[in-house]
Amino acid sequence: MSEVVLRAENVETGYKGVQVLWGATVSVGKNEIVAVLGPNGAGKTTLLKAIIGFLKVWGGSIKFLNEEISGLPVHERVRKGIALVPEGRKLFPNMTVEENLVMGAYLYNIKRDKEIQNIMEIVYNLFPILKERRTQKAGTLSGGQQQMLAIGRALMTNPKILLLDEPTLGLSPKLANEVLETVVKLRNELGVSVLLVEEKVLLATRVADRIYLINQGRIEHEVLKKDFGKDELLYRYLGL
Ligand SMILES: Nc1ncnc2c1ncn2[C@@H]1O[C@H](COP(=O)(O)OP(=O)(O)OP(=O)(O)O)[C@@H](O)[C@H]1O
Ligand SMILES: [Mg+2]
Repeated sequence: MSEVVLRAENVETGYKGVQVLWGATVSVGKNEIVAVLGPNGAGKTTLLKAIIGFLKVWGGSIKFLNEEISGLPVHERVRKGIALVPEGRKLFPNMTVEENLVMGAYLYNIKRDKEIQNIMEIVYNLFPILKERRTQKAGTLSGGQQQMLAIGRALMTNPKILLLDEPTLGLSPKLANEVLETVVKLRNELGVSVLLVEEKVLLATRVADRIYLINQGRIEHEVLKKDFGKDELLYRYLGL
């Protein structure tokens, strides 16, 4: 792996005393797309919440560019360069596309208009359809376009790493593929690292450089790209 951008090590956390993650360790390198695959309830969303700071860790560490961040509030982690695209997108359906993008910047105090305009141009270049639809209400977009908007909104904070929680959920195979293609594109063009949680395993193997398998709050296995075609556990996941 190249320079490590994010390393979560032995993370233990959960909800109201009920432990969900039992020593989860993942790392993401610069320019890497890393996928975390696992069944419902395995702890994928919980892991992303711990990394962005919505959940406090009970044990272990979270390092971003070699700095311990597990004690920092969410907005400080965002300002350092971590952004989350949450499960279910969580857009503002009655606001326009452009207002949603601006909110992405405002929520985390990136308030200088010039800066917002600059980042918005980058997002529009990445997703021309959002520019076309910029005055349309977010709720009237198609599922795939809404996901692109959710990703665009997260990009408004100018992140170094993007945490993506099941971006293809509810999308047709064709749209799911398109969304993941844009993830590859933003990695290639913006140099953003990506930690991608997915249930569409086959699609994930097409875009990821490395895969972790998570089960019952534990990272059970790591597969490098060169082994995607021959790893037995991964095959079992694929149902082959
Ligand atoms: N807010 C919460 N309060 C209590 N328990 C929760 C909460 N959110 C999740 N859990 C529990 O934590 C465990 C892991 O949930 P999590 O949402 O991280 O799984 P997941 O891998 O993201 O699943 P999915 O594929 O369904 O999104 C589950 O047992 C779930 O019931
Ligand atoms: Mg989840």
